[in-house]
Amino acid sequence: MANKYCITLLPGDGIGPEIMTVAVDVLKVVGKKFDIQFEFQEALLGGAAIDATGEPLPAATLDICRNSDAVLLAAIGGYKWDSLPSHLRPEAGLLRLRAGLGLFANLRPAKILPQLIDASTLKREVVEGVDIMVVRELTGGIYFGKPKGIFETETGEKRGVNTMAYTESEIERIGRVAFETARKRQGKLCSVDKANVLEVSQLWRDRMTKLAAEYPDVELTHMYVDNAAMQLLRAPKQFDTIVTGNLFGDILSDAAAMLTGSIGMLPSASLGASRPGVFEPVHGSAPDIAGLDRANPLAQILSAAMMLRYGLNQSAAADFLEKGVSQVLQSGARTGDIMSPGMQLLGCRAMGEALIKILEE
Ligand code: IPM
Ligand code: MG
Repeated sequence: MANKYCITLLPGDGIGPEIMTVAVDVLKVVGKKFDIQFEFQEALLGGAAIDATGEPLPAATLDICRNSDAVLLAAIGGYKWDSLPSHLRPEAGLLRLRAGLGLFANLRPAKILPQLIDASTLKREVVEGVDIMVVRELTGGIYFGKPKGIFETETGEKRGVNTMAYTESEIERIGRVAFETARKRQGKLCSVDKANVLEVSQLWRDRMTKLAAEYPDVELTHMYVDNAAMQLLRAPKQFDTIVTGNLFGDILSDAAAMLTGSIGMLPSASLGASRPGVFEPVHGSAPDIAGLDRANPLAQILSAAMMLRYGLNQSAAADFLEKGVSQVLQSGARTGDIMSPGMQLLGCRAMGEALIKILEE
């Protein structure tokens, strides 16, 4: 009997709908090969939801997501909604979705494909062989800490406030995910913090160090975030698995993405204690190229592969899809963001078609 899964699609804004269409077509082909049946349902998130309902995360969307096996998200945001108050912006919808589904662990792999080494802005010898997994805490830290807001002081001056806070249990649960992840990789975990200045980071470092006793097969090191940013560009191959808080993870995962040539290539998985997880590219909605058929759909497609692997336990199908992406690049197909001399420049749709052709062979 076929495995049947209910997948919620959140195409969002900008290039979101174009890359989602391609990813769904690709998933259907993979499903056929592996006897997996997908039932897709679409819901509103971000700017698209604001335009339709006034809310960046309508209650109906959260319900639909909760009642599905996995959520595939494209991208949200755009200039059009940038001047709205912060709680009504598209980004607020994304944060509420993460919190609402309890998605505390965000896995962001930055692995350079041999075919794309020349697309990186860094030297070949620096990036060749880079394979990093950033484990970012996603529902705590300064993104959610209280107090937060813009308040008026006694003198009538405004003061903006956010709070970086982590409880021991929050640190421990992301720590466990990171140690387990490192264990399945090269067994090296680097915890990134700012313990030389921040108390919240001192607690983070203490808890990670304590946890290490339970994972004797994993080698734990610590690094300050400023140094980590520098080391990622200087000698990225020293990293295997990185674990860090919400804000540091946001910043470092973009930096790690660029090692691989283009942020247009990087997928992510956001996981909680149970299904559904949310699977989305690390890149944003790229409003400047929206609707022009110029977007790179591969991060979305690789996010669908992560959905198969981490969200649905279909690792053979995930392997197959990832191999297909590698092959389509091997064939010389490129979107603009990863273009290099001698390669074939394709639009978003054509890249999807080229991949499907390979998967169907
Ligand atoms: C990301 C994004 C989001 C974040 C924004 C869109 C809220 O940058 O997923 O990295 O800051 O977490
Ligand atoms: Mg980010």
